[in-house]
Amino acid sequence: MKKSIGTLVFFFSFSLVFCQSHSRTVYHLTDGWSFHRGDFVGAESPSFDDGNWSRVRVPHDWAISGPFDKEVDKQIVAIEQNGEKVPTEKTGRTGSLPYVGVGWYRTVLPQADLDNKKAILLFEGAMSEAQVFINGQKVGFWPYGYNTFHFDITAYLNPDSRNILAVRLENRALSSRWYPGAGLYRPVTLQLLNKAISVPIWGTTVTTPVVSEEYARVNVKTKIDGAKGRNLRVVSVINDLNGRVVGQQDRMFNNIHHFIEENIEIDQPNLWSPESPALYYAVTKIYDGERLVDVDSVRFGIREVRVTPEEGFVLNGKSRKIKGVCLHHDLGPLGAALNKAALRRQLQLMKDMGADAIRTAHNMPSSWQMDLCDEMGIMVVAESFDEWNYPKTKNGYNLYFDQWAERDLVNLIRCHRNHPSIVMWSIGNEVPEQGRADGGRIAKRLQDICHREDPTRLVTVGMDRITNAIENGFAPLLDIPGLNYRTHLYESAYKKLPQGFILGSETASTVSSRGVYKFPVVEGKNKTYPDGQSSSYDLEYCSWSNLPEDDWILQDDMDWVIGEFVWTGFDYLGEPTPYDEYWPSRSSYFGICDLAGIPKDRYYLYRSRWNTQENTLHLLPHWNWKGKEGDTIPVYCYTNQPEAELFINGKSQGRRKKDPSSRLDRYRLRWNDVIYEAGTVKVVAYNSDGVAVEEKEMKTAGKPAGLRLTPDRQTLSANGEDLVFVTVEVVDKEGNLCPTSDTPLTFDVNGAGRFKAACNGDATSLVQFQQPNMPVFNGKLVVIIESGEVAGDMVLRVKGKGIKTSLLRLNSQ
Ligand code: GAL
Repeated sequence: MKKSIGTLVFFFSFSLVFCQSHSRTVYHLTDGWSFHRGDFVGAESPSFDDGNWSRVRVPHDWAISGPFDKEVDKQIVAIEQNGEKVPTEKTGRTGSLPYVGVGWYRTVLPQADLDNKKAILLFEGAMSEAQVFINGQKVGFWPYGYNTFHFDITAYLNPDSRNILAVRLENRALSSRWYPGAGLYRPVTLQLLNKAISVPIWGTTVTTPVVSEEYARVNVKTKIDGAKGRNLRVVSVINDLNGRVVGQQDRMFNNIHHFIEENIEIDQPNLWSPESPALYYAVTKIYDGERLVDVDSVRFGIREVRVTPEEGFVLNGKSRKIKGVCLHHDLGPLGAALNKAALRRQLQLMKDMGADAIRTAHNMPSSWQMDLCDEMGIMVVAESFDEWNYPKTKNGYNLYFDQWAERDLVNLIRCHRNHPSIVMWSIGNEVPEQGRADGGRIAKRLQDICHREDPTRLVTVGMDRITNAIENGFAPLLDIPGLNYRTHLYESAYKKLPQGFILGSETASTVSSRGVYKFPVVEGKNKTYPDGQSSSYDLEYCSWSNLPEDDWILQDDMDWVIGEFVWTGFDYLGEPTPYDEYWPSRSSYFGICDLAGIPKDRYYLYRSRWNTQENTLHLLPHWNWKGKEGDTIPVYCYTNQPEAELFINGKSQGRRKKDPSSRLDRYRLRWNDVIYEAGTVKVVAYNSDGVAVEEKEMKTAGKPAGLRLTPDRQTLSANGEDLVFVTVEVVDKEGNLCPTSDTPLTFDVNGAGRFKAACNGDATSLVQFQQPNMPVFNGKLVVIIESGEVAGDMVLRVKGKGIKTSLLRLNSQ
């Protein structure tokens, strides 16, 4: 008799996407979920009536639509990492969004032919404490919300009736230092494999033990379930992305134990690097006699990474200093709910700035993000934990560390080890154990697990207590010592440490609000202002952190500093330092881009150094200072050119040249004594031969008159989840940005797309992201439109009082 899972074929006909190879079928469980906020006795039961629950699509974040509330997860704590001794009230620490509590998800599994199949249910991440039930029976539990995990559910399935999957999630109060999101926020898949013989999930490991321009050796190690003692024919093929076969082996394996292994040589391989992210597929076909029983395909890249005291960080034989950013997992107004288009936009913005690496701070990445890093050419430090045994937050990972750390690390590494973009594993961030007696023992255990699971990659930890960590033997045992901030301790740490190099695992933590400028312009620690904003002259930071140039001076002057990961590429929800105690601050100020993904001035400072392909010429502040006529308004220019001349209404303010002997003039050009008068500010940049190569002008804007709508792309996929990000700017009648405007706008979308969210980047705004109205913040905001399932045209209409309504036409196919 043919067995099948469930009978409701029609239910899934529109909602599931599935991919089928010869022997395995992958169902993406995207649509058709019921969701309920709060606990329910018996919600796992197949007969439970979820008819009045909401219908949602996964990935889903139950908390992102708000409302913001000061009381949510209010933490009365001293943040030890920030040097605090006395507990105080922290309101926006986890974003003030309702992520705490229980949520239930239910769905009917797709009907499928179950004969001789093994059914694996895979979660890319579930926030958090996931309890998984099939047909009322508990299948398993996985507490860590950031990890991927899977269960074999074959034994729980009814071949002849509907199969109900139910998932209970719970987020505890005081369990996070930032907004973690809530729910099934990453993809869920059902995978059917051959029961008798098949490669299990994450069963193939591809490494490249020999890498050169001339040839590479690719090692493909494949676990085969059900093969023990058998003789099987295995055809291993290496394809390039165009499907061209570049290497092949066809062999009989007799009396297989559990694994088989092939070494395949490739002539003149295309090496993977950020500049040229070449990829290949390793396809393993397994034959039992004449019968093809399984096909497993893994994408990989060919590249060699090493770190040595003599050469520093070396990729494919070339030393380079890492130009990295730390990224939290949330996607701003979309919350934690994973979306490929949003991830791609984030990474593209970082690449355009010249970044070549990210650190997934402080948690395990998603496969979509790693796939994009592979494709776009972005190196990755994949991080695992922010806490070990010793709590940073009362109910954080410390509750699970002893029981789960090894299982979590194993899943992280087995799931992601074939991604060429990953260049290091990180086993922790600023764990308090670094300063304690047992810290070294735990670090060694975790590092050993990484080496056991993946002997090809080095391991790091981001340390903020380097003096203790050196004394107690913690820092010296790491493959790569990572320093978080403490630029004044780099040199002494380098001298005491055996490794011979240091990574800036976390740097800068400079704070700013897009488009906000404070006077007088002075450098300052922990500066706060009555409006809850920080100045964009890029001179403000925290008691433990520093300016971008403090890191650059070390990187430029010390061979042994192998690069950096700036905190952070984007603002994120929660951790509103320096306004941890100020309501309504609810998101960070650290970002190089704001929460909407709009670049702040600092973006151009990093770009002027990191992007070596294109010129950068950027001026700040804006030039709308009514009431400050005659006052001093310093002007800064961020450029890759060594010199520039500034003009106000045609009058030269002098030429400035970068000065290597001055901390603040080494990388920026500053005119500190400019007297404000409305009109035009212009800069002319000169190259090292003294030739004028580029100029830029900015004008005092008049009254808001219209809107400029700039989409990041014109055509979407009609798949119900693709996104376009439209930057909306309020402009005067000549098209100049009105840089102080806070005009409220409303949005509506007609046709083949729908309004998804808006965000203006103001860390103190309590307007919900999913509402179709929002004021601009310093003249700008971003509207996000989602494609529908049917291809066609769509129109975004943006209206504001006293401003000409604007329309933007887009389409999907
Ligand atoms: C670091 C920490 C980050 C973030 C940052 C803010 O110490 O690792 O998670 O809190 O400080 O500056």
